[in-house]
Amino acid sequence: MSRPGLFISFEGIDGAGKSSHVEGLASAFRAQGRRVTVSREPGGTPLAEKLRALLLTERMDALTESLLIFAARRDHLCQVIEPALARGDVVLCDRFTDSTFAYQGAGRGFDHETLAILERMTNMGAAHEDGLLPEPDLTLWFDLAPERAAERLAGAAHRPDRFEAQPVEFFRRVARGYADRAAAAPRRIVRIDAAQERHRVWQQLIDALVCKGWLW
Ligand code: TYD
Repeated sequence: MSRPGLFISFEGIDGAGKSSHVEGLASAFRAQGRRVTVSREPGGTPLAEKLRALLLTERMDALTESLLIFAARRDHLCQVIEPALARGDVVLCDRFTDSTFAYQGAGRGFDHETLAILERMTNMGAAHEDGLLPEPDLTLWFDLAPERAAERLAGAAHRPDRFEAQPVEFFRRVARGYADRAAAAPRRIVRIDAAQERHRVWQQLIDALVCKGWLW
């Protein structure tokens, strides 16, 4: 699929430290003259941010959760991601569809085939002629052992949300979900060793972009 922009997603279990590198990467692209759109999922539009607030706080079953996530994604795609890619921006998105397959699929144990159907429905009538969701050009997967991530979350100042409050076994399943996604898409998904010191994590991330020829 050819498009003028560049779509990069950040993925990993809660506590892996991915979000702290999004703004840094945005600055690196801006320093090289690129226009950057930074966003996140669930969220990124006023409607999707309202759905995010519900998803992080309200009890619901796995299908309701998945439908709300894809509804938020649909709005985000139409309002933010597609227009930004069409005008040539670098889009940096903190989480995208891999999160759904890892959290709702592997974590909650929700049916993968149903998620794949919802994924296809989310792009109906959207800009892409091939009818598929725009796939990130690159996904930076921050891989950290669930036990280490739990330690980091325990030290965080804020109260855990509905996902962060899940037991470590949930995050083991989510981590396996990410590993399976990465094995199935080795060219798109680059593993970042999130157990390293922060500056080494950053260096590995930059190396991945230099390797693609997108930063220098
Ligand atoms: P997160 O990026 O962790 O936000 P914060 O760093 O502010 O806590 O995302 C919020 C949560 O949403 C996270 O626990 C994972 C969950 N999530 C899903 O379960 N499925 C999805 O498809 C997405 C995008 C997020």
